[in-house]
Amino acid sequence: MTDSSSSEETLANLLKEERRFEPPADLAANANVTADAYARAAQDRPAFWAEQAERLTWAERWDTVLDDSNAPFFKWFTGGKLNASYNCVDRHVEAGRGDKVAIHWVGEPVGDTRDITYAQLKDEVCQAANALTALGVNAGDRVAIYMPMIPEAIVAMLACARIGAPHTVVFGGFSADALASRIDDCQAKLVITSDGGYRRGAPAALKPAVDEARTKTDLVEKVLVVRRTGQDVAWDDAVDVWWDDVVGGASTEHAPEAFDAEHPLYVMYTSGSTGKPKGILHTTGGYLTGASYTHHAVFDLKPETDVYWCTADIGWVTGHSYIVYGPLANGVTQVVYEGTPDAPERGRWWQIIEQYGVTIFYTAPTAIRSFMKQGREIPDRSDMSSIRILGSVGEPINPEAYIWYRTVIGGDRAPVVDTWWQTETGAIMISPLPGVTAGKPGSAMTAIPGIAADVVDDKGRSVPNGSGGYLVVTEPWPSMLRTLWGDDDRYVETYWKTYGDLGYYFAGDGAKKDIDGDIWVLGRVDDVMNVSGHRLSTTEIESALVSHPKVAEAAVVGAKDEDTGQAVCAFVILRESAGDGGSEIVQELRAHVRKEIGPIATPRQIMIVAELPKTRSGKIMRRLLRDVAEHREVGDVTTLADSSVMSLISDGLNKGA
Ligand code: WT7
Repeated sequence: MTDSSSSEETLANLLKEERRFEPPADLAANANVTADAYARAAQDRPAFWAEQAERLTWAERWDTVLDDSNAPFFKWFTGGKLNASYNCVDRHVEAGRGDKVAIHWVGEPVGDTRDITYAQLKDEVCQAANALTALGVNAGDRVAIYMPMIPEAIVAMLACARIGAPHTVVFGGFSADALASRIDDCQAKLVITSDGGYRRGAPAALKPAVDEARTKTDLVEKVLVVRRTGQDVAWDDAVDVWWDDVVGGASTEHAPEAFDAEHPLYVMYTSGSTGKPKGILHTTGGYLTGASYTHHAVFDLKPETDVYWCTADIGWVTGHSYIVYGPLANGVTQVVYEGTPDAPERGRWWQIIEQYGVTIFYTAPTAIRSFMKQGREIPDRSDMSSIRILGSVGEPINPEAYIWYRTVIGGDRAPVVDTWWQTETGAIMISPLPGVTAGKPGSAMTAIPGIAADVVDDKGRSVPNGSGGYLVVTEPWPSMLRTLWGDDDRYVETYWKTYGDLGYYFAGDGAKKDIDGDIWVLGRVDDVMNVSGHRLSTTEIESALVSHPKVAEAAVVGAKDEDTGQAVCAFVILRESAGDGGSEIVQELRAHVRKEIGPIATPRQIMIVAELPKTRSGKIMRRLLRDVAEHREVGDVTTLADSSVMSLISDGLNKGA
């Protein structure tokens, strides 16, 4: 494996972890999924998934469960037809559960809440679907959604799904440039946005970024604007339309059309190892089957009694699968929160759990670590005895955070499910089952029933227990990505070239099997960083830096960070014409990256250097830069073209510090 000295060390410590947490007896006795499911699924995988697809309501049943005739372009449930939005709303209303709360929406300003029943959600989705059609959106057209965490964001996604218009949700924290490039890549003709949203107690504008994006692409025909904060917005009568004007007045009747199981549902962009984000394409039948089944199995969901809360943003895949499609297909009541965890005060999340009696809570290790730092007095002020299951996602959860989560938030009783998956996988792949698995702090454990994963060496051979290698998925699964939007070649190249002959999907993560064969995911083996559970590409940030007129060259690495898992560290060579760049140069460059990509990509640290370490073939040795950024002794420099470069860098930094 590349660059594993520091992760090997971490892993050695991890594997000394001997604590085990057996499933609570009552949970095990009533579990949705029991231990026999693993063998049953492995025996006949297509039959197992066909059984799970029965969770959905199909307008027409499929002919073939898995069509692998054109691998790796797999198809699932071909011949079947369904409507995703019908499955998420109408069918619950038709089954007499229209008065059940679908969403307890909690705005960031205290007291600003809305309870939305399934019947109300259905009406709003129908109105929005009618409005989109009236605005000229047809099945197959792409719609970009750039919104805060307000109910209309979920309504917008479901309305798109209802009329067969694939959505591409762009995280509200991304820049106008990022929005424009995604609009361009998938050729979206309509954008749904809002005037702004609340962040840390203040309204934060969104519409201006859409206006700016429109100066960079001329594809956008209409912009549909939800009024959320009431702040002033610039207005273009030819393009901009208020949501209230066209959705509010539309009919609540809308007949959902049944689409092919393989009809595109959405495109979600994610960073790859090159500068250009990849448009991950998910389709309808297999994706919804995967989202619904995993939500039921991994969280042991009891829709009649559970109150579920996932703290993700709909701008990421977690929000798609575990706020919108999985939970709503399963008809559960869930909490959706607009704001930041510490607004107006640090105990806000725990107060929400107490107020709504949340039973299943799903969040990210980076959040858990930041609460750990603040001390347990804060969560201890709230009664969280309703919690029965805790989930973690986005990056490896370190044992300390796992134990704190279990003890403080879970009352030493609720199991923690550490769920490994990716934008590409669409749904959870490797995770304990809360009623079956004895959890180990730090391990995602084993592939869930229906999924076949392994850790292999560079030839694709399964490594023995106790060894490390690359994480692969060895059999196709229903919620898998179908391709990269408009780029079949890159799809094959990125995921199937490495172990294509074996038919293995290459996940891009390093992992280790412990002595029992349980999987410990170590992190990316490509040039992708994981900052607060969000994927960022080193190359993308490097391109942003070199687009600044004062920058000649840049190298970016992800360095270990106590709070965010990894943090962006940049090494920059300035152009001669820039002199020393001036005292403000670091601030200037940080602001530049923020503007080009978005706040999450802002480097924690920028080091101005005279040289970068390169091999004789000119490849930057990021491993050495990571040593510097993580304050380690610099490793083996023998493959450097000029071995004095590293001392030049360290000397320069010491002088500067
Ligand atoms: C990458 C995928 C899946 C939704 C959120 C992130 C890392 C994710 C875990 C976990 C260790 C994890 C991997 C993966 N990752 N979950 N439980 N343990 N690593 O989705 O942005 O597509 O990122 O996140 O490195 O490849 P994403």
